[in-house]
Amino acid sequence: MADKEMTEVSEAQIASHWKEEELYPPTPEFIAQANMMDEGIYDRFALDNVPGCFKEYADLLDWYKYWDVILDTSDAPCYKWFKGGLINASYNCVDRHLAKNRNKTAIHFVPELEEERVDHITYQELYVRVNEFAALLQDYCGLKAGDRVTLHMPMSAELPITMLALCRLGVIHSQVFGGFSGKACADRIVDSGSDYLITMDAYYRGGKIIDHKEKADEAVAEATKQGQKVKKVLVWQRYPGKYSAETPMVEGRDVFINDLLKKYYGKRIDPVPMPAEAPLFLMYTSGTTGKPKGCQHGTGGYLAYVTATSKYVQDIHPEDVYWCMADIGWITGHSYIVYGPLALAASSVIYEGIPNYPDAGRCWRIAQDLGVNIFHTAPTAIRALRKIGPDEPAKYNYQFKHMTTVGEPIEPEVWRWYYNAVGKGKAAIVDTWWQTETGGFLCSTLPGLRPMKPGSAGPGMPGIHPIILDEDGNEVPSGEGKAGNICIQNPWPGMFQTIWGDRERFVRQYFERYCKDPNSKDWRDWPYLTGDAAIMASDGYVRILGRIDDVINVSGHRLGTKELESAALTVVEIAEAAVVPVKHEIKGVEPDMYVALKPGYTASEEIAKKVQQALVTEIGPIAKCRNVWIVPDMPKTRSGKIMRRILAALSNNTDVGDTMTLANPEVVDAIRKMK
Ligand code: WTA
Repeated sequence: MADKEMTEVSEAQIASHWKEEELYPPTPEFIAQANMMDEGIYDRFALDNVPGCFKEYADLLDWYKYWDVILDTSDAPCYKWFKGGLINASYNCVDRHLAKNRNKTAIHFVPELEEERVDHITYQELYVRVNEFAALLQDYCGLKAGDRVTLHMPMSAELPITMLALCRLGVIHSQVFGGFSGKACADRIVDSGSDYLITMDAYYRGGKIIDHKEKADEAVAEATKQGQKVKKVLVWQRYPGKYSAETPMVEGRDVFINDLLKKYYGKRIDPVPMPAEAPLFLMYTSGTTGKPKGCQHGTGGYLAYVTATSKYVQDIHPEDVYWCMADIGWITGHSYIVYGPLALAASSVIYEGIPNYPDAGRCWRIAQDLGVNIFHTAPTAIRALRKIGPDEPAKYNYQFKHMTTVGEPIEPEVWRWYYNAVGKGKAAIVDTWWQTETGGFLCSTLPGLRPMKPGSAGPGMPGIHPIILDEDGNEVPSGEGKAGNICIQNPWPGMFQTIWGDRERFVRQYFERYCKDPNSKDWRDWPYLTGDAAIMASDGYVRILGRIDDVINVSGHRLGTKELESAALTVVEIAEAAVVPVKHEIKGVEPDMYVALKPGYTASEEIAKKVQQALVTEIGPIAKCRNVWIVPDMPKTRSGKIMRRILAALSNNTDVGDTMTLANPEVVDAIRKMK
């Protein structure tokens, strides 16, 4: 607790130095074409009109049967949206577009190697491929509604095809970010109880072909150890008909999808009408304890929310070419590459590789050549692109009408480069604040209705009512520059339904803190705790300051400090580990690792290397730390608690403050001397 309070104090202090930024109005050209120009939406979605207002969002979808109640709160805070309704997500993202948009590109797949040309998949082609794969999954694997399947796939057209084939059958998918290790994949296979793993043999990254099948072998071995047997590993081929990995296929367990598919050519599978509240997918994310938790998203509510926000915030029109640079393995990719855009019959770009391959102009070339006019990325990518080629965008003939930033706070300076250089002073920017748990945007400006404010996410979305609470549950008034815990007062259709298999943790982590009555069935008693600290300006615009829990946001990706520390502790020599965030020019922050050794071992370069390797094996390369400091002892309170605040100050070269309360203040100097 002491550590947490310290973090909050320092967040608030940072914030008080910030000045209010000037407002940028969207251009008249943008406003004239915006999907949402009706100021009345804010009134229609006022707190008093929750939950009924969300019918407007559900009406953007095709239903087999309409719902009986919009919001069932009988098991609060596990809500059921559009209860009684029947719907299929695959139908809404594919079949319903055939009448008007059969021949329109659904997915532009851009391989990383520029000499491999873009693959344009029409809605008709998507329909065929989703159906054939669904037929295979049903017939060969015997999968049915309610089963879970783990995917560990790279950025490819086959990834959304797989997701849409699974949800066509009502099967719950759990896609694990391709960059995660086999071990991390195994934990998710076990937790979700998946009998099947779907992967791809290889993919390109930084000009090299990466053997990805290797990770499937690790994942299956580890899952077996943990008691979950994987029946089959289904392997897509990066080049159909050719195996691009070095790791051998395992006889009887591994099968090539491209081979099996031949048997299902021409097959059509009717989408299964699913209850609106049936789970659509699981997305694992880091939380306050070591174990990643499976955020369970429902079908009808989630799809309604991401479709509406894609339409009104992303401003996607049928004629737009939309490119979200996130990985589909994160929530941004699920909501705003796959489900939202495809439900609107958009043309969505999927890029396989890294933004700077083979050079700093690649992104802008893709934008130019495909006619991309809506661009969606994260501050970490914006900082990197700005660093490697500040003048590159001007060299290419593209024009964005709209751009998004998501995942972490953006510095006003970086925002201005995005606006002036990338957007060429004409694109509307939305800074969208939200989380894996929330399914879709919580705060953002509606781009045709509200001006932009650099560094600020904007007001609550229509129907999302944020409130900033202090430690005692009192509202922190807006406009005073004071930070607090940002909560959402009401439920909304995009929010997750529970943590897979752990309702107790769901309630504890997100609702317990400010719950007014644990037995209440009234949603007004259950404010949602986001875990972020924020400040609200007098105009209601929200500035997100960072996490209040033990989560480090590296390049917009959440890493639990406990996850990193447990990985370090798998190294035999390590007795204690503590991770702290350290400021980084491109990534925002980076983890810095402190370890203390068990008695009898001496510090060595070897041990530090072993720790880094353990992070890569347990989690993946994104978990690598800036440095591994082998310290004689950790700074500790008298009760034996590691003072991460002090380590964080040492890592960031800031004032360590008062060390008098430490049991071992001398260790602070000893660590400082190591630097
Ligand atoms: C942070 C990503 C500032 C925040 C969609 C949140 C942001 C966590 C923003 C969720 C933003 C996300 N401005 N901070 N626009 N967007 N965050 O689950 O701390 O990967 O709680 O979801 O990222 O990360 P997650």
